Amino acid sequence: MKALTITVTGASGTQGGAVARLLTERGHTVRRMTRTPSRPGDVHGDFDDPDSLHAAFADADGVFLMTPLSGPLETVQGKAAVDAARHVPHVVFSSATNADRGTGIPHFDTKAEVERHLAAHHPHWTVLGPAAFMSAEGPVVLPIPPGLALHVVAPEDIAATAALAFEQPVRFRNRRIDLASDLLTGPDMAALRGTEFTEVPMDRAERYSTDLAAMFRYFTEVGLDLDVPALHAEFPEIRWHSYAAWLTAQAAQTT
Ligand SMILES: NC(=O)c1ccc[n+]([C@@H]2O[C@H](COP(=O)([O-])OP(=O)(O)OC[C@H]3O[C@@H](n4cnc5c(N)ncnc54)[C@H](OP(=O)(O)O)[C@@H]3O)[C@@H](O)[C@H]2O)c1
Repeated sequence: MKALTITVTGASGTQGGAVARLLTERGHTVRRMTRTPSRPGDVHGDFDDPDSLHAAFADADGVFLMTPLSGPLETVQGKAAVDAARHVPHVVFSSATNADRGTGIPHFDTKAEVERHLAAHHPHWTVLGPAAFMSAEGPVVLPIPPGLALHVVAPEDIAATAALAFEQPVRFRNRRIDLASDLLTGPDMAALRGTEFTEVPMDRAERYSTDLAAMFRYFTEVGLDLDVPALHAEFPEIRWHSYAAWLTAQAAQTT
């Protein structure tokens, strides 16, 4: 397979970091976009500075695009990145599960606008819709009932799907694929982490963040539409970590 040159946005963060590491492992040339380059392979790029995006994306075979949580600015930043990537052969945009459904969740709807802009203005795109990222930190404190199963995804599985999309562009061309590695309840997550589950009242969640509260209300009242077994059957090349296996792998990395 031909080695590709891919600009990875958010490369200092969770999902971009996983994508950059995996593409490098698979022999591709990775430009790690950051506002503060500090090591070889880093390129300067700021979503608020379109000229910097043009430079960071120039002559790349692909761009992995994520957007930071910037409120309404997320749409402006994402559209600027899509515009700057117009001549890049393949853009893989990481959005959120079911963000295209008119959920009313502010940080999903901003992503939906970026998705529409990408589909309207780019000839070759892939949208990934990751569920909640798996986390190993602290107690499980969520505004959801204990019996509700949550879709979760390992950042490594987002990375594996993004890498496959760049390597098999025809298979992934102009497709939107929601991603989850596992589906389990808050108490099950807490038990695997050796900690407690606490259901936070929704009004307390609202005071913390109306945006995140809207998301958890949607999860509880509507629910995400994502057929996990069908997804895993379609992409058997991806490891699809169970939450238990992912926690074990995390623990092995930190010892
Ligand atoms: N957490 C979840 O469960 C979950 C689930 C689905 C979707 N999401 C979505 O994932 C996104 C966050 O991804 P993440 O957690 O991987 O990110 P993260 O770890 O929070 O890191 C943020 C990244 O954004 C970059 N960034 C911020 N402002 C920037 C700017 N103006 N120009 C260029 N880069 C900028 C930062 O790069 P530098 O600081 O190096 O410049 C950093 O790499 C959000 O949109 C969120 O809604 C999250």
